[in-house]
Amino acid sequence: METPISLDPCSRHSLQAQLHEQVRKLILGGQLRPGMRMPTSRALAMQLGVSRNTVLLAYERLGAEGYLQTRGAVGTFVNHDLPDDCLAARRLALVAENGSQHISRHRAIAFEGRAQTIVGDKHPAYDFQLGRLDSHVFPFKAWRRLVTSTLSRAGACLTEYGDPAGLLALRQAIADRLGPTRGINVDPDQIIVITGCQEGFNLTARLLLREGASVAIENPAYQGAAYLYESYRARLAPVAVDDKGLCVDALPDAGAALLYVTPSRQYPMGFTLSLERRLRLLDWARRTDTYIVEDDYDSDFRYRGSPIAALMGLDSHGCVIYLGTFSRSIGPGLRLGYLVVPKHLVGPARQVKALFDNGHAWLEQAALAGFLAHDSYENHLRRIRQCYAERRDCLVDSLRRHFGEVTVSGAEAGMHIAWHLAGELPRATDLQIMAAQYGVGIYPLKSAAAFDFGGCAYSERTIMLGFAALDEQQIRAGVERIAAAVEAAQRTAGRGRASRTERMRPRSPANATFRAAARPVTG
Ligand SMILES: Cc1ncc(COP(=O)(O)O)c(C=O)c1O
Repeated sequence: METPISLDPCSRHSLQAQLHEQVRKLILGGQLRPGMRMPTSRALAMQLGVSRNTVLLAYERLGAEGYLQTRGAVGTFVNHDLPDDCLAARRLALVAENGSQHISRHRAIAFEGRAQTIVGDKHPAYDFQLGRLDSHVFPFKAWRRLVTSTLSRAGACLTEYGDPAGLLALRQAIADRLGPTRGINVDPDQIIVITGCQEGFNLTARLLLREGASVAIENPAYQGAAYLYESYRARLAPVAVDDKGLCVDALPDAGAALLYVTPSRQYPMGFTLSLERRLRLLDWARRTDTYIVEDDYDSDFRYRGSPIAALMGLDSHGCVIYLGTFSRSIGPGLRLGYLVVPKHLVGPARQVKALFDNGHAWLEQAALAGFLAHDSYENHLRRIRQCYAERRDCLVDSLRRHFGEVTVSGAEAGMHIAWHLAGELPRATDLQIMAAQYGVGIYPLKSAAAFDFGGCAYSERTIMLGFAALDEQQIRAGVERIAAAVEAAQRTAGRGRASRTERMRPRSPANATFRAAARPVTG
């Protein structure tokens, strides 16, 4: 490792003094940390093109001042305990540095926007956060075998650039699956491997949006998509959603550059766009000359009924760009997904992908191609689908046990449900606070990676519950704790206002006051 030091032979300061000063600054600036081994005097002299004696004398002085410590033949190290006057100098250096950061903070940058928050490092004991998976269901054994065997036949694949659109074997395997599972008949050329849907949004924006363009988008919508399009200075035009998905009649008559939609399972509500609406939506896209960006983020998880063909599978006019991801079926840490474009967009889409990053990492692509090509992926899906279906059942049963006839949506597919709170229950944000005090994470729209434009029917009284990361015991315990939290709040309110007691009456199924109108669990 070469230390970033450069000496100026023309300086009025001696080489030894320059070296001393630069090492001292590196230590005070934190680039050379306490305990770090310094280069040997011979190596540093060679690197700098100076005599070894120059380095030895500089090291000796730094040692005498307490910056360095020489441990005989073992080597020279940055001192663990920098003396007080060194630390005082360090504090001064930091103040000076912060001063310069202060200046740069005010320098204008072009980016104006915000980013979704889908990660959290602190999770409550029972966390129903959306988008989290159970690490125990990751196919470690198969993946380890695939990575090892893939590496052993890497050849020049890691030392040369690959096709920016992605590894052909992987694109072929994806194309082979899209026909039977989503009704999409495509050529591997139309597929671009991406780092998940998020890169897909970016790619579609780069491809389709000019400044000030209008983007029609579901209300509520996935935050990652809304923020991304907004960051391109697009005007977002919210379109309402009901229990049949996007309200096609509410779409703008003209002027949208693209429509972002989640037909298989509306995010976050979980509604499935009916076939009748899909056909009308395609008709709208053709009439208004609008591209549809179809985000099919978790269509592999359907527990009941047959899936409806993807919009792209129903489209015969090249209006649809399709996004798929392996974040749900394998894991978001993999960062792999795919974009499928109509034939006329293949060239520009490949160019945009090349501009973004010259293509995706080879090893993961090749391992995934192997996983898809054999039965491993289908077997894995079958196994986890079964597991998640049981967790979903457990969650809905637990809610019923504690809260009576609950109304939920999105239970026929996916990894989370939307619980529509009965009138007797507190508002979603209050319930979230109560549950948090009992160690349970539950999520109203605004904290469920959802973009709510306001005026949305689900803002106040809907709680999102992800169930994929919790086992059945945790799910049962989590719901029990939510019930206990509500009960405690009710007791407290009982000591306060009687009318509130009525509204918060316990959630026993036997308690008729509490029961919501018995509505079926809808998709
Ligand atoms: C609707 C929706 N689309 C896309 C994504 C992001 O997927 P990816 O990990 O493929 O970027 C998510 C993640 O939660 C999502 O909920």
